[in-house]
Amino acid sequence: MTVKIAPSILASDFARLGEEIKAIDKAGCDYIHIDVMDGHFVPNLTFGPPVIKCVRSWTDLPFDVHLMIDPAQPYLEDYAAAGADIITVHAEADKHLHRSLQVIRGLGKKAGVSLNPATPESLLEYVLDDVDLILVMSVNPGFGGQGFIESQLAKITRIRQMIGDRPIELEVDGGVNSDTIKSVVDAGADVVVAGSAVFKGDDYGATIAALHDALK
Ligand code: DX5
Ligand code: ZN
Repeated sequence: MTVKIAPSILASDFARLGEEIKAIDKAGCDYIHIDVMDGHFVPNLTFGPPVIKCVRSWTDLPFDVHLMIDPAQPYLEDYAAAGADIITVHAEADKHLHRSLQVIRGLGKKAGVSLNPATPESLLEYVLDDVDLILVMSVNPGFGGQGFIESQLAKITRIRQMIGDRPIELEVDGGVNSDTIKSVVDAGADVVVAGSAVFKGDDYGATIAALHDALK
């Protein structure tokens, strides 16, 4: 299995967002991870559907849209229309998680659910057949460049067991770099988000290759 790398554009140069997306596409990434923050669910604010729509034409790679917004349900259609391929909502921000997942699939998109570091994996038990992707936060959402929270490795292992043979991707987000990626993948992740680890250098191809190399 080849692990998918999803660079988070949160760490990119927003003044050149389209070019940055094109550059990570050329550098060999798999998904474009797009962090949407509302200054309410998380203590930071980024962008919404109009910006996503503007950069959609810069790549054919899937847009992996991570909604850190509360509520998310009223806006799902807008994110689908803007060009999201995977739409991930936070379990903590949703009183009707099952319904949101149904709405996302009804829009023809892949449905994801994300858990904050303190949220137990048991919350996933009754939606396992309604999700295409599970996103484990290995930092507290809101900012890039934070340290990996080790306790999440046990959660990743348990979720991998819960998934069984279902076609669900298990993505890990926060503090993933060439030092931490192996433990994350050994625990069961098959998609990793990397923000600062990818964008800190000038040669994105080299940093993405270094992440793959760290798994050998
Ligand atoms: C945090 C975001 C992450 C973040 C990861 O709220 O969800 O996607 O950009 O950044 P790094 O890889 O720098 O921890
Ligand atoms: Zn994210």
